[in-house]
Amino acid sequence: MTETSRPAPDSLTIRRPDDWHLHFRDGATMRAVVPHTARQFARAIVMPNLSPPVTTTAMAADYRERIRAAVPAGLDFTPLMTAYLTDDTDPEDLARGFADGVLTAAKLYPAGATTNSASGVTDIRRLDAVLERMAAIGMPLCIHGEVTEAEVDIFDREAVFIDRVLAPLVARLPELKVIFEHITTEQAVDFVDAAAPQVAATITPQHLHINRNAILVGGIRPHMFCLPVAKRERHRLALRRAATSASVKYFLGTDSAPHHRHDKESACGCAGIFNAPFALESYLAVFDAEDALDRFEGFASLNGPRFYGLPVNEERVTLQRVATLVPDEVDGGDAAIVPFHAGETLGWRLVG
Ligand code: DOR
Ligand code: ZN
Repeated sequence: MTETSRPAPDSLTIRRPDDWHLHFRDGATMRAVVPHTARQFARAIVMPNLSPPVTTTAMAADYRERIRAAVPAGLDFTPLMTAYLTDDTDPEDLARGFADGVLTAAKLYPAGATTNSASGVTDIRRLDAVLERMAAIGMPLCIHGEVTEAEVDIFDREAVFIDRVLAPLVARLPELKVIFEHITTEQAVDFVDAAAPQVAATITPQHLHINRNAILVGGIRPHMFCLPVAKRERHRLALRRAATSASVKYFLGTDSAPHHRHDKESACGCAGIFNAPFALESYLAVFDAEDALDRFEGFASLNGPRFYGLPVNEERVTLQRVATLVPDEVDGGDAAIVPFHAGETLGWRLVG
């Protein structure tokens, strides 16, 4: 050890974090996965891409009840609901749901971009009235930022979305609060860095850990496949710099997306990585490697509520530097799910 180096801390206590982007599904799968998130997080922004999608305030209120019923006794967890935007979304219903506290945000899926996005938006200009209303009432817009045109290479779809859709949108409605979700490219980091404070981004653990080689080297690895797909190494490094930069524009959003093992290990495997069981441990491994443990609380617990205009959590949690083996699979209700980092040992553990 040199004179100036400090010993690495063995534990970290921070305000209880929130997950600002998450998939719970419904039914038996939801009941199996909710406890993992409720154990780790105080709140989560719940994605509405069920089948059929959660498109109205009434549907979101019903879904919220089903989630609440799945939270284990003794855990304090608040689901924050989103409405799935379609070409026919009613701005009145959205505004009422936001005013009543049922809806926290609305979600834009370009039609066909990802899992259960077939009813998504075919052309963002069809949403002009909805987005103007959201901007006026301060309702945040969560965006899956990928174009869907067949001629655009899948690794370019996020960068092209910035040029064709996101930059014009932000220019048209500068007061609209936009969360550019699960960003995967240095172009996205550059865009968010340069944008007004109304534009923020979430970053997943997988996009901080893996580049596209993880999906294809040595064979096709379906459990490393999600959308937006992981990109080249230089993009991963840009995301790590952004997450650990202390910029308040970046915050935690796992995009944990449970799919049963047989739906992933298939001729047409589903997109999505289930990282909920060890999400904090996974993120912390990155902040530790980047020598940025002191920046973890901002990313995990402060920047999200600040952006959404919600109070920060008062409760504290502690993570300890303890070897933690991630199991090969976990219960997924009707069938097993393979978690992110399956079979690996992570260096931290949430102890309470
Ligand atoms: O990989 C993904 N899975 N990306 C998404 O945008 C959706 C998600 C899912 O719902 O499975
Ligand atoms: Zn998602």
